[in-house]
Amino acid sequence: MKDLFGKALLDYQNDNYTEDIITSTNISENDELPLPYLFRSFKEMPKLEKKALQLSKGKILDVGCGSGSHSLYLQEKGLDVKAIDISKGAIEVAKKRGVLNAEVLDILDEKETFHTILFLMNGTGIFQELKNVSKYLKHLKSLLKPKGQILIDSSDIKYMYEDEDGGLWIDTNANYYGELDYYLCYKNEDEEPMKWLYLDFDTLKLACESVGLTCEKVMDGKHYDYLAKLY
Ligand SMILES: C[S@@+](CC[C@H](N)C(=O)[O-])C[C@H]1O[C@@H](n2cnc3c(N)ncnc32)[C@H](O)[C@@H]1O
Repeated sequence: MKDLFGKALLDYQNDNYTEDIITSTNISENDELPLPYLFRSFKEMPKLEKKALQLSKGKILDVGCGSGSHSLYLQEKGLDVKAIDISKGAIEVAKKRGVLNAEVLDILDEKETFHTILFLMNGTGIFQELKNVSKYLKHLKSLLKPKGQILIDSSDIKYMYEDEDGGLWIDTNANYYGELDYYLCYKNEDEEPMKWLYLDFDTLKLACESVGLTCEKVMDGKHYDYLAKLY
């Protein structure tokens, strides 16, 4: 990984903001990811994220924290939060912004236990592929303190396969439709291609049940997205 995501966050943090990240997928064209969005305040967050933060309690883990926007909000409210990310640049920025407990760490290497584990901004993306979901969920279950909860958001991206007449062009012989190849470009440099997983609620619920986790929908978002609570 070249860590172009981290580089972009560092540029923004260091007042070198000149351009946005460009993302695309195997089923969609180029799209801008505005850097200011990655530094959003509570007021600027979508309602699903606000709800997740309001439900957060006890010792909290913010997985894939990025620049640390969610962690900072929780920390400022006096909560005990640890922020982790595999991006070195992201963790450097989170620390610069004032996140006290931030570490470069893959969630699969986390060993502490928590009352609340957050995965926000399409949190299921971190699982990468449907075949990995059980492995991640089992590990997450082992990180939960008694009565602990995982709060995770995702989207049902079936709508991305709709043609103009409202018909669906999903290839039923292909992999799960929420599995995407994800490409990121920043300042004319291409990141190594990544896998990114969008999980519809029913598929997430089934996967949770297979590892002994209960999965409840907390709320729907504005655009096929939802927030789920796993415990
Ligand atoms: C879409 S960004 C979301 C950033 C932040 N949560 C936000 O809402 O602004 C996903 C983040 O997850 C991180 N990430 C991906 N895989 C990870 C893993 N296995 N463990 C920890 N972090 C991971 C990426 O580096 C990236 O910063």
